[in-house]
Amino acid sequence: EKGGYDHFMLKEIHEQPKAIRDTLAGRLKEHNVDLSHEIALSDEEIKSIDRIHFIACGTAYHAGLVGKYVMEEFTRIPVECDVASEYRYRNPIITDKTLVILVSQSGETADTLAALREARKHGAKVLAITNVVGSSIAREADNVIITWAGPEIAVASTKAYTSQLIAIYLLGVYFAQIRGSKTKAELEEVVHHLQELPEKAEIVLGEEKAIGQFARSIASNEHLFFLGRGLDYAVAMEGSLKLKEVSYIHSEAYAAGELKHGTLALIEEGVPVIALATQKSVYEKMVSNIQEVKARGANVLGLAQEGNTELIKSVNEVIHIPATLDLLAPVLTVIPTQLFAYYACQERGYDVDKPRNLAKSVTVE
Ligand code: F6R
Repeated sequence: EKGGYDHFMLKEIHEQPKAIRDTLAGRLKEHNVDLSHEIALSDEEIKSIDRIHFIACGTAYHAGLVGKYVMEEFTRIPVECDVASEYRYRNPIITDKTLVILVSQSGETADTLAALREARKHGAKVLAITNVVGSSIAREADNVIITWAGPEIAVASTKAYTSQLIAIYLLGVYFAQIRGSKTKAELEEVVHHLQELPEKAEIVLGEEKAIGQFARSIASNEHLFFLGRGLDYAVAMEGSLKLKEVSYIHSEAYAAGELKHGTLALIEEGVPVIALATQKSVYEKMVSNIQEVKARGANVLGLAQEGNTELIKSVNEVIHIPATLDLLAPVLTVIPTQLFAYYACQERGYDVDKPRNLAKSVTVE
């Protein structure tokens, strides 16, 4: 049942090219995205949306953080992203022009479901991105985009997250087509690059050995930092959660520019740092942040896009992802962080598929 892999988590990491392909399938028409058969919102309703709220928990929340960047970029609609257990208790501003997007692998998370009901009560348009057809969240949402990742067994979510990102990109392009917020050429370029992602994800998986080696070499450390800017910061948060969840190494994700406002004090000789540097618009800034931690003795693994030959000068090791649009890079960047968590756990000898104190589906509040 594990298809030749030692653990479900590793199997599911390797299923990501297929999960991405399956989530794109049937939704791309030539150079366009067509979600009209899945989403009940009319063009007029889509044009009337004036704010978007992404609501979710854990890994799905981290997909929502990417969603904030993506939807703002594609649609210029202001977007907020909240964890469900905060949103439902904070009296958020919701009108009939608000689109509330619930992201949930299981479709059964209690706080996310309660947030959905709260949003509906206030007249919001409600859209769910979920991996389980017929789940509570899928049934109660007016609009549903299914992520076709297939059953996710490991407690640590991997292929569900990447397929959630794909669903968000599809939604962004679809809305931009209808609202006219991007040119046809810009959207076609995005669609073109989306189609290349399954193959590129496969290439990232080819880096497994090098990532495993770095993970094993730092597995005796008790503290670690993930750094990134922009979309890389959102991915850093997900990478950090995955590491904590399965390896029990304490890890923090930091927006790299925030380091010098306090946390830099914790960087000392030998502290491992995973530095995500895939975003061109903030690349130079990111490199100077890396140099700040390197100067204090950090042991840095950098992640960069293919073609970047100079990051290696500032770090100890580099893993490359194939070149893609910066906006789409999270789908590829997260994969090394998942493998990193997996191998750190292996080295420490824990049961990766059943991390302590955690359940796959959190149906209590
Ligand atoms: C982390 C993880 C959890 C879930 C969270 C939400 O690897 O799996 O953080 O992402 O409990 O679950 P869903 O997506 O089912 O609502």
